Amino acid sequence: MTDLQLKAFRELFPVTRRYIYLNHASNGPLATPVVQAMNGYIEQCRQHGEVPYSEAEAGVEEGRALAARLMGVRCEEIAFIKNTSAGAIVAIGSIPWEHGDNLVMMKDAFPSNVYPFHYLLPHVEKRYVTSAELVNGADCVFRLVDRHTRAIVIDWVHFLSGVRADVAAIAAFCRTRAIHILVDAMQGLGAVDQNFADLSVDFVYAGGGKWLLGPQGSGILYVNSAILPKLKPANLGWLSAQWEEFNDIYTQKPMKPGANRFEEGTKNYIGIYGLRESLRILLDVGMSEVAERVRMLVQLLRRRLEERGFEVITPADPQRHAGIVTASRPDIDTSVLHARLKQQGFICSLRENRLRISPHFYNTEEEIEKFCAALPVRGGPVA
Ligand SMILES: Cc1ncc(COP(=O)(O)O)c(C=O)c1O
Repeated sequence: MTDLQLKAFRELFPVTRRYIYLNHASNGPLATPVVQAMNGYIEQCRQHGEVPYSEAEAGVEEGRALAARLMGVRCEEIAFIKNTSAGAIVAIGSIPWEHGDNLVMMKDAFPSNVYPFHYLLPHVEKRYVTSAELVNGADCVFRLVDRHTRAIVIDWVHFLSGVRADVAAIAAFCRTRAIHILVDAMQGLGAVDQNFADLSVDFVYAGGGKWLLGPQGSGILYVNSAILPKLKPANLGWLSAQWEEFNDIYTQKPMKPGANRFEEGTKNYIGIYGLRESLRILLDVGMSEVAERVRMLVQLLRRRLEERGFEVITPADPQRHAGIVTASRPDIDTSVLHARLKQQGFICSLRENRLRISPHFYNTEEEIEKFCAALPVRGGPVA
């Protein structure tokens, strides 16, 4: 990307004028076209009372095609959902669990990838790996698998350490076994260039409000079309059926053949319209370019943090991280430092007494340098 192109993309994000925003693992800022699309929908409702169903749905289908392109999958494998949790819940409800099944999951996964499995599958035995074990590859997962393992549930990128699991290795291992793979992609989708059709995982779900740079309350669920016919019907509603129009309400309609059957009722059109535009921006940049820029900024950040004596818990191997860098220094009260950085206009997260810093493609090397220059130097005064 040329400097001029980068400048043009940065112009789309007004947040860049006010802050050095390095907090995409928490919240993706909205770009102007995203807001304009949502406002356009709202304005039409204000002026005309409604957006006609066929028009609203056409806008959704455009978004679906963009989501499919971003993930390298087919349109009919994409459903819009309201958050990451909703994706996990659809997957849990659709898998035909049997008595004696076990499930391999992460002990320290983000809670949205833990609680649904505990609440909804109390009788399924849980076997645990940790994100720290996943740094060294997927053997820790394979060791726990036996012929009763029905599913493996992984946070693609860990919300705290930033460890990126080797989902490709897990998928390859499961290909010859009847094990479902569920991927919480909330901290990876939009930051990592990944063709999911190549992976042969079963479910991938991510909210739109972080690395995808969409609004909160939007999200994407991918369901591998190879498993769709084998799933138990779940989360189905009246809009899981194929409606052409609403004049004839009472003739029963057949179920949609694709993953959009999981869009069970009236959609969050406003959110989906916004997400559609943020997907368009990411695709305009190109996901390989996005991922390359994130990787470059993360490497610079990590180098500077280490120079200043910070302990970085995120793995250095570019294959084992995405856009999150998490660090702390034993002699520094991180909550005080975090508050001071915020006051100075540097936005990142405080998580488990560490700084979690998460740049996106539109951040610059200069911003990373400025952020790191605001950190205490090694051996210098702390406050
Ligand atoms: C890995 C991961 N999954 C999911 C979520 C959020 O879940 P939901 O979109 O259901 O609120 C987060 C939020 O920080 C996360 O880090």
